[in-house]
Amino acid sequence: MKILFIGDVVGSIGRDAITDYLPKLKQKYKPTVTIINGENAASGRGITEKIYKQFLEQGANAVTLGNHSFDNRDIFEFIDTAKYLVRPANFPNDTTPGSGMVFIKSNDHEVAVINLQGRTFMADLDDPFRKARELIEETKKRTNIIFIDFHAETTSEKEAMGWYLDGQVSAVIGTHTHVQTSDNRILPKGTAYLTDVGMTGPYDAILGMEKEAVIRRFLSSLPTRFEVPKNGRPVLSACLISLDATTGKAKKIERILINEDHPFY
Ligand code: FE2
Repeated sequence: MKILFIGDVVGSIGRDAITDYLPKLKQKYKPTVTIINGENAASGRGITEKIYKQFLEQGANAVTLGNHSFDNRDIFEFIDTAKYLVRPANFPNDTTPGSGMVFIKSNDHEVAVINLQGRTFMADLDDPFRKARELIEETKKRTNIIFIDFHAETTSEKEAMGWYLDGQVSAVIGTHTHVQTSDNRILPKGTAYLTDVGMTGPYDAILGMEKEAVIRRFLSSLPTRFEVPKNGRPVLSACLISLDATTGKAKKIERILINEDHPFY
């Protein structure tokens, strides 16, 4: 079984990159399941129902989110009916709509997709480590194939989650920092790990935002509004995980990076 995971889609350039490359990626890698992180898909902040549905029509089986999950108010209208939309599971359960874990059916198997958010330099949510253990215990009764999108700021928190869950889940893949890291590996007990998968959006930008505004903020320290560029060259960042569908153990993880400096073949 193969899981294709595409990192944080940012704005229209990112969505266009999905339209252009997802069919080609599917043809080349033949993933069993495709997951997209879409928390920046609507102008860099949140997601709309239209975009969520478009991702599913284009071949995504689940869409994960992160700290911008609720930035676009449209989400409150559809999150409870969106069966394959996953927001961080460690938001307070009693007050947060939506689900932190979904199951995808694929032939004879089921894939559990869990989204968690880190707490270092981020909002003070519930403990993602304990939440992970709780969800894994629940999930193991149903399937051994567990994919975790860990949306976190620091490398140390992401590495800690990878090692903490080694052997318990198929993959712990980091999102949020938008630059792909090169530390893809299979941990000793069979969990695929990557600190950050990277983003899918404007290539000539700073983490997907117009570079001029970000530079201005650093030079002036004044409040500056960040916008996502509407035109320009794209980058697509993803990874492909191959795993044993019975045990859920990962066998291989490869990085995928497509831009003009790394063309797609
Ligand atoms: Fe984020």
